[in-house]
This record gives sequence, C-alpha cells and structure tokens, in this order.
Amino acid sequence: MQYPFRIGIITYGDEMKENILEMINQAPLEEPKRQYYFCELAKELVEEKSREAGRKLTFCVVTFGCQMNARDSEKLEGILEYIGYEKSEEEASDFVIYNTCTVRENANLRVYGRLGNLNRLKRKNPHMMIGLCGCMMQEPQVVEKLKKSYRFVNLIFGTHNIYKFAELIVQALAENSMVIDIWKDTDKIVEDLPVDRKYTFKSGVNIMFGCNNFCSYCIVPYVRGRERSRNPRDIIREIESLVKDGVVEIMLLGQNVNSYGKNLEEPVTFAQLLQQIVKIEGLKRVRFMTSHPKDLSEELIAVMAAHPKICNHLHLPLQSGSTEILQKMNRRYTKEQYLTLVDKIRKAVPDISLTTDIIVGFPGETEEDFEETLDVVRKVRYDSAFTFIYSKRTGTPAAVMEHQVSEEVVHERFDRLLKEVQKISREEAGRLEGTCQEVLVEGMNEQDESLVTGRMTNNLLVHFPGTKEMIGTLRQVSLDTCKGFYYMGTER
Ligand code: 5AD
Ligand code: SF4
Repeated sequence: MQYPFRIGIITYGDEMKENILEMINQAPLEEPKRQYYFCELAKELVEEKSREAGRKLTFCVVTFGCQMNARDSEKLEGILEYIGYEKSEEEASDFVIYNTCTVRENANLRVYGRLGNLNRLKRKNPHMMIGLCGCMMQEPQVVEKLKKSYRFVNLIFGTHNIYKFAELIVQALAENSMVIDIWKDTDKIVEDLPVDRKYTFKSGVNIMFGCNNFCSYCIVPYVRGRERSRNPRDIIREIESLVKDGVVEIMLLGQNVNSYGKNLEEPVTFAQLLQQIVKIEGLKRVRFMTSHPKDLSEELIAVMAAHPKICNHLHLPLQSGSTEILQKMNRRYTKEQYLTLVDKIRKAVPDISLTTDIIVGFPGETEEDFEETLDVVRKVRYDSAFTFIYSKRTGTPAAVMEHQVSEEVVHERFDRLLKEVQKISREEAGRLEGTCQEVLVEGMNEQDESLVTGRMTNNLLVHFPGTKEMIGTLRQVSLDTCKGFYYMGTER
C-alpha cells in the first residue's frame, strides 16, 4: 500500500518541530493507513537529515534471540528501507536498532555491554539514532535502568507495538528526548506493512503471537502477552503473495503453533490451517516452529504424514525427562507421555528428524532427575538438541522455588548432556549417507566458491558443486559423505 500523496512538511529552523507536531495530529486513525502516513512524514525527515549530512543515511538492525525476533527485524528493516535509510551490517550506522531477547539473563547482559559501545559511536556521529525493542523492553525494571543510565537511547518500544515503528520514528526524529512506548498487552494485529525479507526464496510467516502456557521458568508469556492467532485468510493471502514473489519455503511461526486458532471467532486447528496451506500452488515446502508436546494432536500427525510438502522435521521441546521436574515446570506432560508421542510420530513419519530444547539445573533437579533426561535423550536419539542452563527470570514462579541447583553441579550436568547429545546427533546425521535427497539451495559456500550450500527437508545442510544461479532452486543431490553435522554431495 502506498500513501497517495507527499505531505510536504519540510520547513527549516524552529518552525519545523511545530509543523511536525501538527502533521502528527492530522494522522488518520485507521491502520495500516496511519503507518503509511507516518512513513511519508519520516521519508521527508530522513531526506532532510541526509541533505544535512551530505550523504545517504544508513541503518543496522541487530537481532537477538529466536525466529520470531528475526521475523520482527525484517519488519523493522522494511520500514527503515521504505523511509530512505540504506541497509548496513556495521553498527557505526545512522540508525541502530537492537531487537532484544530476555529468555535468559545473559542475553540481557550482552545488550547492556554493547550499548556502551554504541554510546561511543554516537558521540562521533551527531546523526546517529539508537532504538531498542523486543522482549527485554517489556520488563519494567529494564526500562527504568535505561531511563536512568542510558539517556543516549532515542527510542524504546516493546513487542506489542512494532507495527507503530514508523510513527515512533517520526516522534523520535522530531523530539530531542527519549521516546518510550511500551504496551502491557494487546489484542491488535496490524497487517500489510513493508517487510524486507532476508532471503528471496524462503520466509517466516507469523501465524500467532504470545503464549498462554506459563511454563514456570519462562518469561515469554509476560513479555509477549496472551495468545492471539492471525485469521487463516490473512495467513493464506500473505503466503500466496510471498509465493508470487518467488518464495518456495515458508516457516510458520508461533510460540506454540499447536494451539493455533483456538481463540478465533471461527476456531480452526493448526492441522486444518496446514491443510489449506499445502494446497497453495507454487509453494514447495512448509516448516513450523515451535510445537508444545501437550498440544500436538493425532490430527496433526496424520496431516504431516500425508503431505509431502510438510518438511521432515519436528522441533519438540522436552525441557526435562523427569516427570517430577516437568510437573514443577508446568509442562503438563509426563516422561512416558512424551515418549509415547515420539513413538506415534515416528510410526507415522518413519524418517522424521526430531530436535529439541532441554533445560539443565531447574530448581530441585536431582541427579536422578537429570538421569531421566539423559534416558529420554538416549531413547529418542534427537538429530540435534539445544541445551540451556536454567536461568532465573524475576517474576516467574521458578525464580522463588526452593533448592536452586549450584553452579558447579549445573555445569557438570550440562557438559555431560552436551557430550551425549553431540555423540548421538553425529551418529544419526550419517544415516542418509549414500541416498539422494531434495535440497533447497540457500547460497554459495562461504569457504569454497565452487560449492553451493543447500538445506534438506530434515534441516541438515549439504555442500555440493554448483553456481549462484542455483540459489533458491530445489535440486536432487546424492549425499556422498557425512562430515559430522553436514554432508558433501553431488547433484544428480
Ligand atoms: N532458562 C533457561 N532456558 C530457558 N528457556 C526458556 N526459559 C528459560 C530459562 N528461564 C529455553 C526453553 C525454551 C527455549 C526457547 O529457551 O528450553 O524452549
Ligand atoms: Fe515459554 Fe512454555 Fe510458552 Fe514456550 S510454551 S514460550 S517455554 S511459556
């Protein structure tokens, strides 16, 4: 959507601010029209700043955390490009945004550390604007700290209002003080804003936002709010338009995709949504992330087994193998239920690749509990697993639970788990050696320019001789040798 006229705000000197404030007051209320109005305003402000600087202005968006954040960053980049900034990989840019994560404490600490560096860069560049957004900004104590000790930050916003980015940029450009806009929650979903996709041939697609599960260690429900599903029609429309644009693979995104559609006016299950999506002509592959074991239905397993477009990969977070710990985590499944679910999935889709998330050192975790986790890892034989040391998040029930595990014990368990997980994934990775598989070429090999790198439907990478013209196409590749976590191959 293009706003149909130029706004013409640029006058110089003191009058300018007043002028902008007036233009802000005249903005339409209806979305996304309102944001396109602010895009036009921002374009003129950026043009003016760029004239002053005597060069094109640049931006850099730094993403921390998960796939949802990566997708949000594409939306931020879409707006920044639309209003006239040029993309750069360097943090010495004119507009720097940190899209933050707060799932674990150390992610927060990294942001504070890097902000010090940004402050030094800003002192050298008077045009520089610094913005912070994402999950960490939804924590009131973070914003208090920023207000007190990081006054050089221009703009702070949260997870519920990123659609307002253009409007917030105009405010930040027009004002000399810190602009802060954080919402506690929202039921609003605004569609059809500019997006700058990282890849031409694959894309993430949000199907829902927020989480209602309140796992006792997790801060996500507090910072991402309650579950909101997008309307299936909007999702299908977005995918159709991506496919028209050359996208062949999509990743459906949500904190818990298995509970998609429960709160819609006309409820739809995730399996039903998938069935509609696989019918889209030209779309070759569908992935999704993340699945909660307690909500993974028989219906979904049947749909996965029936549709070749659905990738042979399921990320199924275990978190712990001990039923007692799972109960304290509020995961609402037992070790046995998890293992039965895995059996059912493997029966229906025999060569599926299974990956997982595991937390070590949850409060009260005993050696026996940890052994139960190792037992599940050995039984399921994951293709890969993300292993995390439990991180205490203030405000979650687990933060005040008794018997927090000592650092020494946690590290020792973590190392043992990692060793086991890596040994198994190395053994499992080799199981396709000698077979021929379909591969989506994602780019040139970074070390050897005679090779391209592609991804199989099970999410593993293959390097094989090829040229850049192949990027974005599907190829049949023989998997000649397995090199641990990837293959070397040749095109058939
Ligand atoms: N500490 C450690 N890991 C956590 N995760 C979520 N919250 C915490 C926490 N407080 C992990 C879970 C989740 C993944 C995205 O992050 O394993 O699945
Ligand atoms: Fe956090 Fe649990 Fe929701 Fe995942 S399902 S985002 S771990 S609360």
